[in-house]
Amino acid sequence: MPHPFATHVGIRRLVTAAIAAPSVHNTQPWRFRCEDKRVLELHADPGRRLPVLDPRGRLLHISCGAALLNLRLAIRVTGHRPLVQPIPDPGRPTLLAAVRAERAPGPSLTDAELYAAIPLRHTSRRPFSKRPVPQEVRRELVAAARAEGVALSLPGPQATAYLLSLVAAADQELAADPGYLAELARWTCDGGRTDGVPSYTFGPRPSGRGVPVRDFGLARPVSGREVDHFAARPQLGVLMTRGDEPEDWLRAGQALQRVLLTATRRGVSASPMTQPLDMLDLDRERDLQRRPGMPRASGHIQMIIRFGYGPPVPGSPRRPFPEVLERA
Ligand SMILES: Cc1cc2nc3c(=O)[nH]c(=O)nc-3n(C[C@H](O)[C@H](O)[C@H](O)COP(=O)(O)O)c2cc1C
Repeated sequence: MPHPFATHVGIRRLVTAAIAAPSVHNTQPWRFRCEDKRVLELHADPGRRLPVLDPRGRLLHISCGAALLNLRLAIRVTGHRPLVQPIPDPGRPTLLAAVRAERAPGPSLTDAELYAAIPLRHTSRRPFSKRPVPQEVRRELVAAARAEGVALSLPGPQATAYLLSLVAAADQELAADPGYLAELARWTCDGGRTDGVPSYTFGPRPSGRGVPVRDFGLARPVSGREVDHFAARPQLGVLMTRGDEPEDWLRAGQALQRVLLTATRRGVSASPMTQPLDMLDLDRERDLQRRPGMPRASGHIQMIIRFGYGPPVPGSPRRPFPEVLERA
């Protein structure tokens, strides 16, 4: 195979895979730049950061990290090995990673299948069935995060109940915040856009005291929207990193995406739930980590994920690739 950065078609294939990644509110806060056919740079697009929900840019970095994992897999399946230098130049604050590719033996079966899962993965905001996620799959999810240097904890019932109470409290706080609602209105749509969360992906409104999935319909009511019951004790996963700096967030994003693609590969649906993250203080993080079911967890919570078995869901739009690729 030719070098993956050598041709327009090669670059297009890589960037198309990268931008299929999940991103907070589908902001797609990334840009790519190909430097002299040897280096593909991943940049943050700071104009797409969410000032209310994401003042520190953590969710932006996690989103870009997810795109970076897709890019790495796409390079892998061309018979090359990605060489990634994360956050290489403090003088260029938007530059998150410089990626090179060197010839290598073909991808492992796992990497080939994770790459194949990229276009099949979609966030599901629908209720999941009572069928538990089997132990073997749970182990694979934990191993996927570990392969990226990040811990995934699968909390027991007590820790799950506590986590859900934090999500619900954060959800209520956000619902009363005009700044949050204005931001949500800006990033939701009824269709016809290439970014933002379209109303056909909102899922039903939860009835009763089920899981507090983020309600994207808060700022954009949809007439005749279904109401449905969400299981009270879903299988949650919590991603944690030791540090809490941009490099850790970028790593968390790569772990998130490896976990989500692993779930897709095993037929498991998932949705991130990030409502309480920037409201968690250290005391609450430590308190959570003392709960039974989160034994070896330590560090900073970067993501809460709900896993389960649900119906197929539609994908969200993406900006066309010429909009995100800059040629040097
Ligand atoms: C950092 C991050 C945070 C997210 N937070 C939430 C969330 O709190 N609730 C939710 O329903 N989806 C959340 N998502 C999923 C995005 O809304 C979703 O990826 C985006 O709308 C694109 O849709 P897709 O994942 O189906 O491609 C998050 C995704 C990322 C990467």
